Amino acid sequence: MKSSRVGGLGLLVALAASSCARPAPIARPAPPPLDAMHRVIPIPVSVVASTGNSFVVGPATAIVVTPDEAEAIEIGRFLSDLIGTAAGPETPQVVGGEGTIPEGSIHLTLDAAAATGDEGYELEIAPNGVVIAAEQPAGLFYGVQTLRQLLPPFVEYDAVRLDAARSVGVPAVTIVDGPRFAWRGSMLDVARHFHSVDDVKRYLDLMALYKMNRLHLHLADDQGWRLEIASWPNLTTHGGSTEVGGGPGGYYTRADYADIVEYARRRFITIVPEIDMPGHTNAALASYAELNCDGVAPPLYTGTNVGFSTLCVDKDVTYRFIDDVVRELATLTPGDYIHIGGDEVERLSEAEYAAFIERAQAIVLRHGKQVIGWDEIAHAQLAPGTVVQHWRPRESPVPAIAQGAKIIASSADRTYLDMKYTPQTPLGLSWAGFIDVRTAYAWDPATLYDGIDDSSILGVEAPIWSETIAHLSDIERMAFPRLPAIAEIAWSPEDRRSYDDFSRRLGAQAPRWSALGVNYYRAPEILWER
Ligand code: ACM
Repeated sequence: MKSSRVGGLGLLVALAASSCARPAPIARPAPPPLDAMHRVIPIPVSVVASTGNSFVVGPATAIVVTPDEAEAIEIGRFLSDLIGTAAGPETPQVVGGEGTIPEGSIHLTLDAAAATGDEGYELEIAPNGVVIAAEQPAGLFYGVQTLRQLLPPFVEYDAVRLDAARSVGVPAVTIVDGPRFAWRGSMLDVARHFHSVDDVKRYLDLMALYKMNRLHLHLADDQGWRLEIASWPNLTTHGGSTEVGGGPGGYYTRADYADIVEYARRRFITIVPEIDMPGHTNAALASYAELNCDGVAPPLYTGTNVGFSTLCVDKDVTYRFIDDVVRELATLTPGDYIHIGGDEVERLSEAEYAAFIERAQAIVLRHGKQVIGWDEIAHAQLAPGTVVQHWRPRESPVPAIAQGAKIIASSADRTYLDMKYTPQTPLGLSWAGFIDVRTAYAWDPATLYDGIDDSSILGVEAPIWSETIAHLSDIERMAFPRLPAIAEIAWSPEDRRSYDDFSRRLGAQAPRWSALGVNYYRAPEILWER
């Protein structure tokens, strides 16, 4: 009541007076800028500086791609769009060629002799030219992301073009690089709050900068079903019509989903769809009465409790439903995996649960895909090739590994980007703890539990659950600066990583994020570059 009486101008005056009275904040010295070659995240396997001058990107810089082949040319265009700003008024030309490479060009070459593996690359920058060589297109793309981080942050602005006189330099250096783990992922929960196609594309763009290669979409939960299934249309028309808090929800049409898959593909990111079952299914149960054991559809749900819903595991229609959903999903999804959830089921016995997971697993395999599930699925008999996403910090992944499964490391107390940074963080939850930058970064998936090593780990994934995450700006606030920490754990060799070094490189990302318009959290423990 008191504040409402200090209205209008009075409040402004009061605020102005109090800010004058406050002592000036203690100025933290801005760190000296890191030289470009020591800014890169994830830190490359090997970086050797040359003594020569830098390479100058200018209006005459051409991008030459060999061989002249569509996927490689596409990567050349990506680079050309990116460095257009740095190069001057004209976007650099992309030329497919076989003959001599002109002096002063950036040469992207797919070359089996490079022996860089599926995703590695070599980047050599010399005063008279740049070469990125890779065995596979993904490696070329990652080499381009490294070159991108060696360019000044202003290249990220869409709207600015320098005149031709103001070319920029990149340091002379040789980088040899490749990932530690094949799976470098993040997850968006688009079920609890729906997030649009454009928001997902923006997140894909930001993931690509850090060489992440899997986006797991949590497409169905109690609060919403977000992917059109032609054979069960009520799933989206009814089950997609709301979200946490009672907002309007939404869903992806099949065309929207295909658009996301293609946008991701061009960034070497595979979409991993999840339909969570048998629990977390209220949206489906509300849409089709026959999926309930009592034949009665419950109301839609807009709260945030878990564990109360389950498909009726005794009914044949349940498995016809799963078969239809998986069949449609498999035809829309080029990636190898379909995620069947399997977490937090409280309404079934262990035997009922295990039998259900085994039937669902068999359906996915029948449609030509491999299964991923949250770590509870290790209570069932896993098929060869099934992957277990380890999320519960107090449960060891060893029982899953003992069945032959590989694991995705997603321990909630390290990787859940919807956990608050500190008790003061307005967004997010804290049931798995507070995750500051050091907590997100300073761990090794191979030593987090006894009895595991790199050979049993497929990779690392950072989920963002969306109980409190309603907007793209919220996603960005929680993902940055922690997503690059997870990306580095997944990519870089353990003996190249240290928190102190990472935090310097992280602070150096700030101007790039500002140029990209990222709503990042200025964690007070990081010295952010201006
Ligand atoms: C989960 O966080 N329930 C996988």
